[in-house]
Amino acid sequence: MYKVGIITSSDKGSRGEREDKGGPKIREIVEQFADDYEVADYVMLPDEREQLSAAMIKMADEEGIDLIVTTGGTGFSKRDVTPEATLDVIERRTPGISEAMRSISLEITMRAMLSRAESGIRGNTLIVNLPGSPKAIEEVLGPVLPSLKHGLDILQGKDAECARK
Ligand code: MTE
Repeated sequence: MYKVGIITSSDKGSRGEREDKGGPKIREIVEQFADDYEVADYVMLPDEREQLSAAMIKMADEEGIDLIVTTGGTGFSKRDVTPEATLDVIERRTPGISEAMRSISLEITMRAMLSRAESGIRGNTLIVNLPGSPKAIEEVLGPVLPSLKHGLDILQGKDAECARK
């Protein structure tokens, strides 16, 4: 069972001016994969690079979260800094995960190219950025969660076999 931490990056959400729909959508999808994942933490933060990276470090290093999924802050607004906060804390990038999610999304909307989402590894933890839209989360998270489990198995030495299933 892998522990999932959810981070919503939203200025308006953190000020209570907008209901967070992204975080609950991630929880809903993770709960559909209850054999492999459980939600262990959820925070909502403003679009502040240092606060976001500090939350990622806390979840990874102190709480032993295996998979951190962020939502929001990946676009072109000057306040969108989630990818930069992620790059500040990861040790190795995992571009294939972000490419796969953009590829799925591009089948649905060309605007998927506007998400600068990153992903990568910090210690035993995988960090994955998703866009803010609940629709985007719905479209990409379910399809990638099974392969992310396989990646975590390898990262944490639980499965050295990489046989294609
Ligand atoms: N991906 C999917 N699957 N569906 C979408 O509707 N919206 C795009 C993109 N990715 C979208 C998507 C748009 S319009 C933007 S601006 C970027 O995600 C960045 O979103 P964010 O700033 O909320 O992270």
